Amino acid sequence: MKLEIQNVSKRYRGNTYGLRDFSITIEKGILGLLGPNGAGKSTLLKMIATVSKPTDGLILLNKNNIVKDANYMRQQLGFLPQDFGVYPNLNAYEFLEYMAAMKGVGGKNLRDRISGLLEGLNLLDTAKKPIGGYSGGMKQRVGIAQALLNQPKVVIFDEPTVGLDPEERVRFRNLISELANDCIVVLSSHIVSDIDTIADQVAVMKNGSLLTKGPQEGITGLVSDNVFETVLDKEQLSIFKTNHLVVSTTRKEGALKVRYIANGPIENSIKQQANLEDAYLYLTKTN
Ligand SMILES: Nc1ncnc2c1ncn2[C@@H]1O[C@H](COP(=O)(O)OP(=O)(O)O)[C@@H](O)[C@H]1O
Ligand SMILES: [Mg+2]
Repeated sequence: MKLEIQNVSKRYRGNTYGLRDFSITIEKGILGLLGPNGAGKSTLLKMIATVSKPTDGLILLNKNNIVKDANYMRQQLGFLPQDFGVYPNLNAYEFLEYMAAMKGVGGKNLRDRISGLLEGLNLLDTAKKPIGGYSGGMKQRVGIAQALLNQPKVVIFDEPTVGLDPEERVRFRNLISELANDCIVVLSSHIVSDIDTIADQVAVMKNGSLLTKGPQEGITGLVSDNVFETVLDKEQLSIFKTNHLVVSTTRKEGALKVRYIANGPIENSIKQQANLEDAYLYLTKTN
């Protein structure tokens, strides 16, 4: 499996770009697509899912041009759009049966497949109640289930963990890990902790451009010698913030523990083990 995005741009009305001369190659495994709101994540994912077309560039799946031959992608695609909507009067069973019919998924195993997905997403108990009464997290899980109905080879999830509580996130993670054996899975988020434990590769984007892509260790390595911690009072912190990149502050016995990124430590600092959150902040704040 190989998905190649080559010099893709998406220009919206006027002169706004959702994506600009964007290139990335995605192979089997889980790619976490990270970027602040407005970075272009949804713009990219919609074009991969063939519900939107590039204004420039090529998208190839296993060397097939899917801008021209969208069906080649659609036959093996599972897509959860960011703005996924459900039919409130149907229950989860009915909704998934409906979606299966739309996707041309059938056969005598369909009921088992639907039950399996509902179970994996912890929806069995409510599957016979109308979706209109579900919480946001439950609706989101129905959206995840519909994307997996056709046993897709390319799975695109746009902000899938929005609305999920911590327990639901763990379930989602397990489901995705099982899925990823020989598929391409792309998950987008603007929250590092949503993807850092499951993604094999991480891509960071901002303003329609790719800032970096690689394994998590590689990206964290960008700031491995640059993360420090010091203790400051409130006044010192406000000055410190104007010329240092502060990752986080925590209260400690009346003073503030400040985690920051810098070329070198200021006085009384302790070097810290860098993590993906540090690297993400560094990349998105300095680019
Ligand atoms: N339909 C649209 N028309 C005009 N501009 C759009 C449209 N969709 C997205 N954009 C713009 O493209 C940029 C990227 O948006 P989007 O892909 O939704 O980012 P993300 O998903 O990372 O939050 C933003 O500046 C957004 O305002
Ligand atoms: Mg988006």
